[in-house]
Amino acid sequence: METSKDRSSLQKNLLQSDALHEYILKTSVYPREHEQLKGLREETIKVHERAGMSVPPEEGLLISMLLKLMSAKKTIEIGVFTGYSLLATALALPEDGKITAIDPDRSAYEIGLPFIQRAGVEHKINFIESEALPVLDEMTQEMKEEELYDFAFVDADKPNYAEYHERLLKLVRVGGAIAYDNTLWMGTVAIPGDESLPLRLRLGRDATIALNQFLAADHRIEISQVPIADGLTVCRRVC
Ligand SMILES: C[S@@+](CC[C@H](N)C(=O)[O-])C[C@H]1O[C@@H](n2cnc3c(N)ncnc32)[C@H](O)[C@@H]1O
Repeated sequence: METSKDRSSLQKNLLQSDALHEYILKTSVYPREHEQLKGLREETIKVHERAGMSVPPEEGLLISMLLKLMSAKKTIEIGVFTGYSLLATALALPEDGKITAIDPDRSAYEIGLPFIQRAGVEHKINFIESEALPVLDEMTQEMKEEELYDFAFVDADKPNYAEYHERLLKLVRVGGAIAYDNTLWMGTVAIPGDESLPLRLRLGRDATIALNQFLAADHRIEISQVPIADGLTVCRRVC
């Protein structure tokens, strides 16, 4: 039988104390969070038992900043849930920006949709209700050089990240970026031999360790492992 470690010590926040996290949120994150993002975040907590899956607001601000610095216009999102990262992206893109957003769960997307509509950015979003791999396969077959994407954000089924990577390298332009979420997997990547963790955590940990090694050795990209939230790896396509 599986023995389970005390999960209270495993958090999607890798800072040295909760007080420090709270300080950052109160000082520079909450005052800058768009009111519809705040509404979407609070609604998700109210109605969805897995609200912890949402990207936290400090990471939303980072994604928004990256997109603006890159002058991104076209992005892909894999793993929408109720749409926190999607809305943060839509708000960061220009009026004629476009996001292809893929998730098999439309019902979660519909929780966030009224906030997206109130923010006036629904026209930028093409939501595709599907698993991502078949959609990406179709996109790679139809892709023309001048239609390549600027940015992709991947926040869905972790064991497929390496599969997504190969396809996204064909869909995102040279100089564009692919960002992978949860690449520190609640800090468990640093305890590879710990078999006392619950099975789900161990599977995610082992897949994440393999992904991190793979990305670190991939010379088609530059990478930065950002220790924000649960870990975000930003990859810039160089060839
Ligand atoms: C961690 S949540 C995404 C959180 C979202 N980025 C946010 O900020 O709220 C993961 C999502 O991935 C979706 N998902 C699971 N398997 C998938 C797949 N094969 N392709 C695309 N999305 C998938 C789930 O339905 C879930 O909504």
